[in-house]
Amino acid sequence: MKKFIVYTFMVAILVGSYLATAMPAKATDLGQQLVQGQCSSCHKFEGQAESRFNLKAPSLMWGGSKFQKDWLVRYLTGKEDPLYQKGYRWDNSRKPIKHAVVAKKEAEAIADYFSKKLNDPRVKKNVLDLTHFTEMEASFGEKIFKEHSCIACHQIKEDGKATGGSQSTSFHNAGKRLKVDWIHRFNLDPPDFVPHSGEFVADVSELGLRYVTGYIMTLGVDDFKFYEPWKDEIFKNADVKRGGQFYKEYCAQCHGLSGEGDGPAALDLKPKPAIHAKMALDNEPVDYLYNVVYYGGKNVGKSPLMPYWGLTLKPQGVADVIAYMRNTFKGGEKVARVAPEGKVATQLGSCPQVRKTHRAPGNIHDMKNPLEPSAKNLKKGKVLFQSRAKPLACKHCHGLKGDGKGYKAVNMVPPPRNFTCAKTMNEITDGQMFWIIKNGSKDTEMQAYDKLKEKQIWQLVLYLRELSK
Ligand code: HEC
Ligand code: HEC
Ligand code: HEC
Ligand code: HEC
Repeated sequence: MKKFIVYTFMVAILVGSYLATAMPAKATDLGQQLVQGQCSSCHKFEGQAESRFNLKAPSLMWGGSKFQKDWLVRYLTGKEDPLYQKGYRWDNSRKPIKHAVVAKKEAEAIADYFSKKLNDPRVKKNVLDLTHFTEMEASFGEKIFKEHSCIACHQIKEDGKATGGSQSTSFHNAGKRLKVDWIHRFNLDPPDFVPHSGEFVADVSELGLRYVTGYIMTLGVDDFKFYEPWKDEIFKNADVKRGGQFYKEYCAQCHGLSGEGDGPAALDLKPKPAIHAKMALDNEPVDYLYNVVYYGGKNVGKSPLMPYWGLTLKPQGVADVIAYMRNTFKGGEKVARVAPEGKVATQLGSCPQVRKTHRAPGNIHDMKNPLEPSAKNLKKGKVLFQSRAKPLACKHCHGLKGDGKGYKAVNMVPPPRNFTCAKTMNEITDGQMFWIIKNGSKDTEMQAYDKLKEKQIWQLVLYLRELSK
């Protein structure tokens, strides 16, 4: 009896596998039936990549590797905008189409068929892990996207407005549409997928490819989960002793063994390395410290003479050195002491204040704030001032009350503006403030906030005005 069962079972397997190899064309799967019956007249589902000039529609041999299922179902049920705004055939031989729509159940069957049968072996899974992708890295990706012409052919949305060219697919919702492994592999060598189609191979390093791919994955995703290293285990595990060792090996050459800014390499530098011994680094926001040390001075609006240490020390090493610094440098006397060479430290928060700030260009200098001082705008300005403005909120220098006495202001020459002093503030126009916030004040600690939106800058200006009323 037992033998018989085993025997029939084996026959079933044999017959089954015979049927599967001998008659693959007859579709039993609903998704496959639909694809063969309703889609293959326009789309290619097998064979080699071909030029867009010879095709009616984008090839889908790799559809399973390319699309996120939810987006695919929405697209096929007519709930997404067209991807090619000028039509797929951009030589103007065809107009944009209204894409065929199927019922939700059918769309789901098609999506399942894609993910079962249309996987491209060249697209390896989990090559690019974005669980440790930071907001700073997304901003590097955005820069690449704009500087390497991606935006010339792929449109994105900024502040709700579409910008960029529309020669190729729109990226408004790319983070919901495409799979990360697909973008990465596609970008490694676009002609593998769309040869002779106007596609573009960019000169971007492997790391740059990670940044731009991660950035594309944030497009259209409002709640993208960025990695925040300062909230991670690495900070709980940070080791002051290990950090001290790193400080000696890497930082002391410029900042000096005891943080006096007098390391052997400091001699030729301008600006001089920060004097950690005089800074209250235990007060400094830890996300800011992480970003300065990991990504370098240039990426937080400071000098590129402060190198980026992330690739050398790795996240754990950066957490260690920060733990060491916060434990060691807690500021000294709270009065201005040694000023940089040839300059005299001015009293913090004096009123009126000596002011040598460069004047904004004429048309900008005389601009009036276009926003109303409504409760909502003032609140937004206040939140930016106190905590949200990046890389570093204004209060750390200008003080919690805007009186120019932030803890970071000790030793600063010139000192931060005292916004509570009407005598000084009445001389400064809205446009002047706008310009300095956007571009920084050259050769001072007032850095450029060029990542803020114009509206946010005007909200800040509204808030600053209130402080001297
Ligand atoms: C009449 C020709 C035609 C038919 C039939 C057709 N499509 Fe398309 N399809 C297109 C064109 C043209 C585009 C590009 C449209 C756009 O700009 O959004 C497209 C886009 C797509 C995309 C997005 C491609 C990408 O690269 O992002 C998918 C997925 C898709 N079609 C699936 C299907 C499926 C599944 C069917 C069958 C149910 C189907 N299409 C039937 C012409 C067709
Ligand atoms: C000169 C125009 C042009 C430029 C510049 C360009 N692309 Fe493309 N891109 C294309 C074309 C054409 C396709 C293929 C569309 C198709 O399937 O027919 C494409 C497809 C893609 C795709 C696949 C997505 C999809 O919807 O099929 C990605 C991802 C992509 N490009 C990323 C980039 C990145 C990143 C840059 C900048 C480094 C860039 N592109 C610059 C023309 C361009
Ligand atoms: C090649 C010289 C050099 C080395 C090496 C160096 N730094 Fe710096 N660092 C600078 C300079 C220059 C500045 C001042 C930048 C400015 O004011 O724009 C600075 C500023 C800083 C600041 C202050 C940022 C602020 O808001 O004022 C911190 C914190 C810092 N460095 C930490 C480190 C750590 C940690 C290391 C070692 C892992 C290190 N630095 C190694 C040159 C260096
Ligand atoms: C790292 C310290 C620091 C931070 C952070 C900082 N400031 Fe300043 N700010 C200064 C210093 C120093 C000056 C004086 C510059 C000068 O005299 O030219 C200044 C001057 C200004 C002025 C006066 C411009 C003028 O023409 O007189 C404005 C407005 C201003 N800051 C706004 C802001 C705002 C808004 C923020 C936050 C988004 C901010 N600052 C963050 C240090 C800082």
